[in-house]
Amino acid sequence: MAAIKSMYVCQQCGFKTNKWIGHCANCDSWNSFIEEIVTKKTGKRETLSATPRRLTQLNRQESRLKTNIEEFDRVMGGGIVAGNLLVLTGEPGIGKSTLSLQICEALANQLQKILYISGEESIEQIALRAERLKTLPENLELLNETNLETIIATLETEKPNFVIIDSIQVISSSDVPSLSGSINQVRVATERLMEWSKKNQVPMLLIGHVTKDGTLAGPRVFEHLVDTILYFEGDRYQQFRILRCVKNRFGSTNEVGLFEMTDAGLKEMKNASENFLSGRKEGAFGSVVTATMEGTRPFLVEVQALTNTTAFGYPRRTSSGFDVNRLQLLIAVLQKHAGLNLSNQDVYVNVVGGFQLKEPATDLSICLAIASAFKRKSLPANLCAIGELGLSGELRNVTHIEKRVKEAEKLGFKQIIIPFKKNTQEIKNIQARDIMEALKKIEI
Ligand code: TYD
Ligand code: MG
Repeated sequence: MAAIKSMYVCQQCGFKTNKWIGHCANCDSWNSFIEEIVTKKTGKRETLSATPRRLTQLNRQESRLKTNIEEFDRVMGGGIVAGNLLVLTGEPGIGKSTLSLQICEALANQLQKILYISGEESIEQIALRAERLKTLPENLELLNETNLETIIATLETEKPNFVIIDSIQVISSSDVPSLSGSINQVRVATERLMEWSKKNQVPMLLIGHVTKDGTLAGPRVFEHLVDTILYFEGDRYQQFRILRCVKNRFGSTNEVGLFEMTDAGLKEMKNASENFLSGRKEGAFGSVVTATMEGTRPFLVEVQALTNTTAFGYPRRTSSGFDVNRLQLLIAVLQKHAGLNLSNQDVYVNVVGGFQLKEPATDLSICLAIASAFKRKSLPANLCAIGELGLSGELRNVTHIEKRVKEAEKLGFKQIIIPFKKNTQEIKNIQARDIMEALKKIEI
C-alpha cells in the first residue's frame, strides 16, 4: 500500500514542508522549494534478523584498478577499488566528459567491457570526441539513455566491468513522479545504481552537475552515499585543470591531480612548476615567484603586480587568482609598515596561468611584487618569496617550508626569502622578521 501526497521539498537540503515557502529555514537557501510527490509506505512489514560476519573472516586485501593516468590514480589513493562509486563534478565545459572518456581508454586493456551511458550527449557526439582524443577501444560501448529502470536492466544483461553515467542529474526513474534532476530523482537513481555497483563489485563513475556557487548539485544525502567525490576545477578559458578529492573512503583527500587541456584532450602535467614559469619575462617590474602547496605537493607560480596613479576617485584594487579582500589587507600593511604610499595608486595583481592562490603563505610574494612595481625596480630573476604576513608587518612561518624551498632549489632559484626561524643554523636562505627587513634585504 502506498499513499500519495504532495510536499514542497528544498532542493538543497531535502527539508520538507506542506506549503511553498521562499526561504528554507533549515539551510538558509532561497527559492529552493519544488513540489514533489512523496509516497509513504503504509502497512506492516515482516522483520527478519540478519547475520553478522566475523571481521577476521572477511577479505581484507584491496586490489586497485590502475588507470596509469598517474595524476588520476594518485588522487584516488592508488587506483579505483572494486565497487567504488565515485562522483566527478565541476563546472560545465571544464572537461568532465573528456576526462571520463580518457579513463575509459586507459582501463580498456585491463577490462572486458566498459559501458558509457550518456543522457546529455548523443552517442554520435561522444564518438566525435573519442575520435579527437583517439580513444577508440574495441570494448567501449556507448548508450544513450536516461531511464533508470532501463539502465539497471541493461547493466544486468550487459554485465560491464566499469560504468560511466553522464550525468546523474539527467537520470530519472519511472517510479518517482518528480522531475529529473530533483532531489528525489537524484537520490533514488544514486541509491539504485549504488546497489547494483556494490552487489556486482563493479566500479561506477557518476558525473555530477554543480550548483550556482560551484558545489555538487543534489541532496546532501547524495554526498553521503557515494564513496569518492572529485572536483575538476580550473578556468574554462585557460588550459590548466586541477582534480581535487573532497571525500574518499579509500584514501586520503590531500592529493591533487594536475592536467592541461590540449587539442587532443587532457594531458598530465608532470612538471607543473616549469610549466607555470615558462614564458616569464626576466627583469620585469612587479614580478616574483612563490611556492604554493596543493595538497602535499609544492609548486611554483609567478605573481605579477602593476601600480598606476589613480585618475580620479577611489584607487582600484583588482586581482585575478588572489582574494581581493586579502589584497586590500596586504596593501594596508605595506602602507603602514613598509612606508609605501599606495593611497593614490591603483593596484592590479595577477597570478599567471589561471592558478588560484588560496594560502596566506603567498602573502610575501604579493607584497614584493607590488613594492617592485611601485618602485619600478625589478627583483632578481632567481628570487622566490615564501611567507605569511601579519597585521603588524611581521613575517609568519608557513607549513611545509622545507618542501617549498626544495622545489624552488630544484628549479634553480638561488635566493629564497623565508620567515625568520629561531635557532636555525641554515644560512642558505634569506631570512626576514618583517616586511621592512624583507624589502631591505633584497634592496627594494
Ligand atoms: P567536456 O569534457 O565536454 O566538458 P564537461 O563534460 O565538463 O562539460 O569538455 C568541454 C571543453 O573541452 C570544450 O570547451 C572543448 C574542450 N576540449 C578541448 O579543448 N580539447 C579536447 O580534446 C576536447 C575533447 C575538448
Ligand atoms: Mg559533459
